[in-house]
Amino acid sequence: MMIDTHTHIYENTFDADRGEMIGRAKAAGVDRLIIPACTLADSARVRDTQAEYPDTCYAMYGLHPTEMGDSPMAEAEAIMDFAESQKLPRVGVGEIGIDLHWDKSRKDSQTEVFAWQMRYAYDKGLPVSIHCRDAVWLLMEELDKMRGHVPAGSLHCFTGSVDEAKVICRKWPQLMFGFGGSCTYKNSKVSEVAAAVPFDRILTETDAPYLTPVPHRGERNEPAYIPLVVERLALALGKSSEEVAAQTTENAKRLFWGEQG
Ligand code: NI
Repeated sequence: MMIDTHTHIYENTFDADRGEMIGRAKAAGVDRLIIPACTLADSARVRDTQAEYPDTCYAMYGLHPTEMGDSPMAEAEAIMDFAESQKLPRVGVGEIGIDLHWDKSRKDSQTEVFAWQMRYAYDKGLPVSIHCRDAVWLLMEELDKMRGHVPAGSLHCFTGSVDEAKVICRKWPQLMFGFGGSCTYKNSKVSEVAAAVPFDRILTETDAPYLTPVPHRGERNEPAYIPLVVERLALALGKSSEEVAAQTTENAKRLFWGEQG
């Protein structure tokens, strides 16, 4: 069994073949998919997708830093109200984070909304899925400010350096690292980072439909490609694919479902 801990299969690009695509994931051994909403509009689609595939799809709701509208705090609160009013439970809060890649002008509102969602998750006892692009230094500053109130969670598609990963490992033992298709790209440093992180803190994910692994680059990504990520991690860690699949699955179960062993 393998788990895709971060995938957007509720998006329109999967409308024509979502059922078949989930079938391909299961045939590849990927039995659980965590589907994080990025906006209030996404949230309804996440809810509907979970309702249609309740044994496979597990919802998360959050406001993504590049999807903020004019009143981000109100949007984040509306998303959490929506999440709380659903019959089916969520497994965490996400996708939340900080992204300074395209637009640095909203840094302050991004960190404000991020801090609010982190505190919300902490108070609810829920893990988070954190997106961070070109801002690991700022993320660490924000986590420092939260002191004892950093929830457990995943640094989804982690792209920081080996040194940054080591600092995070030491300071926040409740955080894990998500690796996806980008670790299969040439010149990717992700596998060095994975090798520097404890084995019991590594997660697999696709971020589908984005970040498609080699040899499918240029095509739509989907959860059935998780074994390609597992194989690449196995190579980086000097372990077998079976060991990596077993350990990353155990890690994800512990983090998102509170299951031990
Ligand atoms: Ni994502």
